[in-house]
Amino acid sequence: MKRDLLTILDLSADEIHSLLLKAEQMKKSLQKRRDHFNGNLPGRVLGLIFIKPSTRTRVSFESAMYRLGGDCIFMTPKETQISRDETLADTSRVLSRYVDGLVIRTFAHADVEELARFSTIPIINGLTDQFHPCQVLSDLLTVKEKRGSLENLQVAWVGDGNNVAHSWINAAGVLGFNLVLACPAGYLPDEDVLQRFSGHSSIRVIHDPRQAVASADVIYTDVWASMGQEREAAERRQVFQPYQINADLLAAAPPHAMVFHCLPAHRGDEITDEVIDGPQSVVFDQAENRMHLQMALLDWLLGEAS
Ligand code: CP
Ligand code: NVA
Repeated sequence: MKRDLLTILDLSADEIHSLLLKAEQMKKSLQKRRDHFNGNLPGRVLGLIFIKPSTRTRVSFESAMYRLGGDCIFMTPKETQISRDETLADTSRVLSRYVDGLVIRTFAHADVEELARFSTIPIINGLTDQFHPCQVLSDLLTVKEKRGSLENLQVAWVGDGNNVAHSWINAAGVLGFNLVLACPAGYLPDEDVLQRFSGHSSIRVIHDPRQAVASADVIYTDVWASMGQEREAAERRQVFQPYQINADLLAAAPPHAMVFHCLPAHRGDEITDEVIDGPQSVVFDQAENRMHLQMALLDWLLGEAS
């Protein structure tokens, strides 16, 4: 039966751990031989429909697919009949006949659910307004790689309660690590996302960034205005100023704390140059791991065993 990845809640804790293990193994194999990875997906085709821009998600998925021996077809709405109002249901039924899996990046999460409902192939969420599961799965790979394990992990999210924050909440709920989110009033994570884990004392939302980072292993931030919120950018810049990850905030964290950012970064807004380019930042290793995690994910969802 096909499996989709619409949110991290589509995976069990065991499945997440297996995916991380597989990604670690694949990364090691790839590092041993820099040439084309001898993968499991020759003859398989991955479709990508991107309604929002992307550097990392698109290129890491395409590169992952090629390294596994498969091929990709990248589409934006203007090249497809989506721009002329063909329904997502019909698009999904048709593309299911041509490709073996589909990554979609769009606005409404309901659109990804609609595609999944009508497809006979795995649908992978490459970011919606509500969730960014592939990002956080690869972030977990980075945490594990840098720290050795996810045991007793303390993650501090500082900034907007957005799509990436929602995926961190789901990951913390499924895996049971500690997550504290410091967000300004009015920019908290969605109540329905938090509600699912309301019994979990390990997930907390507060307002004070210094309190959030005080015992953090990982300090994570993201843009203050996500794609689609450009018109709110000036107002958000004011509200979020106290949430900037700078040397002063870092001084309130344990010295071993690592700084994560999913990128793209707005340097000088949510994070200073000094921090993003400093010794505690892992952002480029984090970006690299998008590809390794996606190799493991594609191998799992599209490979022989699927
Ligand atoms: N982090 C991330 O998803 O980056 P892109 O928007 O470049 O894909
Ligand atoms: N929250 C950001 C993440 C970008 C990868 C956005 O949705 O624009």
